[in-house]
Amino acid sequence: MELYLDTANLEEIREIAGWGVLSGVTTNPTLVAKEFSARGERLTLEGFARHLRAVCEAAGGPVSAEVTALEAEAMVAEGRRLAEIHPHIVVKLPTTVEGLKACKRLSAEGVRVNMTLIFSANQALLAARAGASYVSPFLGRVDDISWDGGELLREIVEMIQVQDLSVKVIAASIRHPRHVTEAALLGADIATMPYPVFQQLLKHPLTDLGLRRFMEDWEKVRP
Ligand code: G3P
Repeated sequence: MELYLDTANLEEIREIAGWGVLSGVTTNPTLVAKEFSARGERLTLEGFARHLRAVCEAAGGPVSAEVTALEAEAMVAEGRRLAEIHPHIVVKLPTTVEGLKACKRLSAEGVRVNMTLIFSANQALLAARAGASYVSPFLGRVDDISWDGGELLREIVEMIQVQDLSVKVIAASIRHPRHVTEAALLGADIATMPYPVFQQLLKHPLTDLGLRRFMEDWEKVRP
């Protein structure tokens, strides 16, 4: 399973890319808005394109960039503009009727599409039929309403295998390391997570303690 960062923050991307374990990045309008607000920068089309280009360079792999249009014609136009920014761009579309229509058209043009806000296996099936390259079920938001995000992911992964569909599954809305393990065990192709979850994947008190003891023992006999 590949590991993606769910962020629009360049420092976070550069840090995790430096670990040698980052395969891609996902963004959404909330994350982009947060990034520009934090920098006190007004969002312009040029500024957004420049930022996305920098994200693509830092990520070194696929970067999902979401359209904000809600109607298919406008989604297609926006998707084309996003795809032209950098070869790494994957156009992210909401799983709505208009999103499906836009997905069909953009996919036919060779633009990779990530269908987002997936909360059922049937939505994933529709996205796959519309030519999506990726589907993004939101595990954490399903758990938030006391349903089972893991069960949603299990159904989608199984359905794709049984139906021999070529779409890849991005386990999204990851909230904690257990979600990552669960996604890997269930056969997700990718898990996308916020920066703090990446840090949590690595940290273990016994690793820190063990290393400290090794170093203390070594110091006692050090040549
Ligand atoms: O980027 C989509 C998804 O990962 C959002 O996660 O935490 O806002 O539910 P969250």
